[in-house]
Amino acid sequence: MEKAIIGGTGVYDIGEESYIKNIDTEYGQVEVYIVKIKGEEIVFLPRHGKGHSVPPHLINYRANMKALEKLGIKYIYATVAVGSMNENYAPGDIVVINDFLDFTKSRPITFYEGGNEGVIHSDMSDPYCTNLRENFYKVAKEKNIEIKGEGVYVCTEGPRFETAAEIRMYKALGGDVVGMTNVPEVILAKELKVCYSAIGIISNWCTGIEPTGITVHDIAGAMEGKKELVTKLFIDALQT
Ligand code: HPA
Repeated sequence: MEKAIIGGTGVYDIGEESYIKNIDTEYGQVEVYIVKIKGEEIVFLPRHGKGHSVPPHLINYRANMKALEKLGIKYIYATVAVGSMNENYAPGDIVVINDFLDFTKSRPITFYEGGNEGVIHSDMSDPYCTNLRENFYKVAKEKNIEIKGEGVYVCTEGPRFETAAEIRMYKALGGDVVGMTNVPEVILAKELKVCYSAIGIISNWCTGIEPTGITVHDIAGAMEGKKELVTKLFIDALQT
């Protein structure tokens, strides 16, 4: 298996058949869904575990990525739910992530912790895979699905949302969208030399960008249908 989709909780009925596989890694066990699409097996990894039960700061990112490596994965598309602080990107819009700002605080962010693993400083000049990005644009265009543009992803520690002052700061620093999960996922993918691309689905305006506060309800509403749509684009893009 060479191709995987991360984040697609609940969209496993897209293929012909699917089954669950448990993968043991040195960081813990990971449950993945293997879905057969046009005769090829594609791996689905729900980032937050079964039933969205793990909060962003406690996700076992290293186990998730090692499990994919163990399966032989070379290409990964990931969906990320994000708030927008860019007035051009409204709830429901789809954006391609092209860089990130890391404001996480307490998560393991590398496989290389010295000792036998050694010390590695991975290159971050191009964290997201250009080929996967281009394939995504291509299939979206073919299907007439609008991609709003590209954006810099700010990763916060969570699980709380940001204050209005924090959002003003992130915006001033060049951020477009905010989420809690893309770091260290993108970094670990780079360390494993896997092609990785993240597509953001805007679920809400960031705190202070709109007069009302963010509610879980807003997030669920704007995401309705979009995750499945993006997942279908991923499948087409992976077969390009
Ligand atoms: N902030 C952080 N993470 C998020 C948001 C947000 O506004 N929306 C969805 N994930």
